[in-house]
Amino acid sequence: MRISIIGTGYVGLVTGVCLAKLGNEVTLVDVDKKKIEAINQKRPSIYEEGLVELLNVTDIETSLDFKKSFGSELIFICIGTPSGDDGSLLLDQLETAVKQISQVVRRKEEYCVVCVKSTVPPGTTRELVIPLLEKSGKEAGKHFGVCMSPEFLREGKAIYDLMNPARIIIGEYDKRSGDTLANLYKDFSAPIMRTNLGTAEMIKLASNTFLATKISFINEIGNICKQLNIDVYEVAKGMGFDDRIGSKFLNAGVGFGGSCLPKDLRGLIARSKQIGYEPKLLQEVLNRNDEQALKSVELLKKHFNLKNATVGILGLAFKPETDDIRESRAIIIVEALLHEGAKVKAYDPLAAENFRSLFPQIEYVTKEEVLNSDAVLILTEWEEFNRLDYSGKIVIDGRRVPKAKGARIYEGVCW
Ligand code: UGA
Repeated sequence: MRISIIGTGYVGLVTGVCLAKLGNEVTLVDVDKKKIEAINQKRPSIYEEGLVELLNVTDIETSLDFKKSFGSELIFICIGTPSGDDGSLLLDQLETAVKQISQVVRRKEEYCVVCVKSTVPPGTTRELVIPLLEKSGKEAGKHFGVCMSPEFLREGKAIYDLMNPARIIIGEYDKRSGDTLANLYKDFSAPIMRTNLGTAEMIKLASNTFLATKISFINEIGNICKQLNIDVYEVAKGMGFDDRIGSKFLNAGVGFGGSCLPKDLRGLIARSKQIGYEPKLLQEVLNRNDEQALKSVELLKKHFNLKNATVGILGLAFKPETDDIRESRAIIIVEALLHEGAKVKAYDPLAAENFRSLFPQIEYVTKEEVLNSDAVLILTEWEEFNRLDYSGKIVIDGRRVPKAKGARIYEGVCW
């Protein structure tokens, strides 16, 4: 199929290269010249396992101009929806892009389907995207089709997840729109669920907020277990045999970060409040997450006075195998440590440079030098941290690194 992807963030770029690899004619469109140049030079600004290799073996057209999507049968909208001050998902960039697509739709004679992939508040495709597209003078369901099909890509594993999805959700305005999109996915073995636009939007937000809830839940259980001298990891293992519960996403620790879980949680909370519903459970999931991170600082304080002490941090990325520090737990923890008057030195194999732009005042050192601190805090479970020699150290572990148990004083954040 001839496909245009509007927005070359990690969803757009990964979707583009994977669909090209599967034999589609793909055009990537972005208004950001730097991003397009980087893609053309096969040096994308995001790190994804296998991405550069795929860029090198696929033939993808790139453009700064929306008009390039003119010949497409399918136009995917992959524009970012960042959080506003009240947590709501901001739609202005998406709106600008849809207005441009509307110009394309106006001039197009053949039928095409516009598909929203961005994470948006339920109702957005029907109440915002379709009216903007119809400003073209064309009618949805007649001259063009509309779908909403969310992505469930984990950062770092996005290519694998796209090629091996657990499910494909197709929210459709009408049957013809859905048929067009389903045709793209006909060779995938994953179950395809076809539903309406709002449900598809909600499936995305509900999935991420459920994952966040699972993490805050196990952290809460962990906090109780710690006081009772019970190992929460053993408890999670025992729970996980029940396939109604499942064993994944029950790793207790300092909580969740990243560009999706916290943002989508806040986005759903904000949307609920707009319609007059107070989502108390979701709010608590978020509160627990922030309190959980700060628990690591409280534990340090139990062992010594933080003023002028040196705290070594292992791990700054929001999870291993990425340089991404967005909403990383390390951010609020370092802020709290500095507030307490501690000196901080930190190590991360990929994310140190990104962290430096936020915290130029802390020291960035090797992992061995981090160990040479008054106490060590482990905040990301990088494999290499399991090969360090922690003997003689005070370690507060936020991610359950087995080797760290060999420390002179060892405490898990909730075990
Ligand atoms: C998340 C979802 O897992 C994807 O399915 C979704 O598509 C994506 O958001 C998105 O909406 O784009 P991602 O943000 O890449 O993916 O990261 P996760 O692997 O979900 O991890 C999120 C955070 O939860 C990390 O900070 C991780 O350390 C933490 N976590 C994860 C735990 O604390 N415990 C666990 O058991 C699992």
